[in-house]
Amino acid sequence: MFGIFKKKEKASTNFNFDVIGVDMHSHVLPGIDDGAQDVGQSIQLIRAMMDLGIKRIFATPHIMADYYRNTPETIGAALEILRAELVKENIDIKVDAAAEYYCDEAFVTKLENEKLLTFGEEKYLLFEFSFMSMPPDFMETLHKMRRAGYQPILAHPERYGYFTVEKCTELKDWGCLMQVNTTSLTGYHGKEVKKFAEQLVDELLVDFISSDMHHLKHAESLRESLKLPYVQRLLSEYPLLQNKGLL
Ligand SMILES: [Fe+2]
Repeated sequence: MFGIFKKKEKASTNFNFDVIGVDMHSHVLPGIDDGAQDVGQSIQLIRAMMDLGIKRIFATPHIMADYYRNTPETIGAALEILRAELVKENIDIKVDAAAEYYCDEAFVTKLENEKLLTFGEEKYLLFEFSFMSMPPDFMETLHKMRRAGYQPILAHPERYGYFTVEKCTELKDWGCLMQVNTTSLTGYHGKEVKKFAEQLVDELLVDFISSDMHHLKHAESLRESLKLPYVQRLLSEYPLLQNKGLL
């Protein structure tokens, strides 16, 4: 009995993220949002991610009218600082940047008037909702994103308390992809979020998983997640779009 148990545990530790390779939602750029506060912290987070098998990172700093007024310029400057430090530290990993747009009126104005920050050949556009409620006119915004040639991805649908499987399915039917935080499956964001994340996996509604890495506690949770059957399933037999044009 003990032998079988030990064997199982050993097998589970063999999982890591090198199967998918890409992490497309993280806050590893130094000093421009609530993620890494300086380049030293950026390096710590990136080393932790590499240690778990991640070999390609898209940094997605918040763009939020009220709190983080990032622009392509602030993001580009932080990316340059980070890349210079990676060279100095002799760390071999490709890091690019896009953004995590907060879906508010300012976002719609940007969408109508500017070129937005995207990643990948598909022009993936990562956005998030308020944790309080969904924007009432969101479907129109979603259509605008599609018409402008972007491929929208909703960040962490499992974290919005007001969200449902039905709503998620409806958004997907209208061309919005879904990115679940891997850490949500560990219970990092609470039992309800974990349960909803599992439901989304079961319903085959998940297109991407990612770290949403802000600090080392997330790295710890990400490491923990590798022991979970749900995460092992996502990494081995699940139709994720993770590698489509991103590696
Ligand atoms: Fe995020």
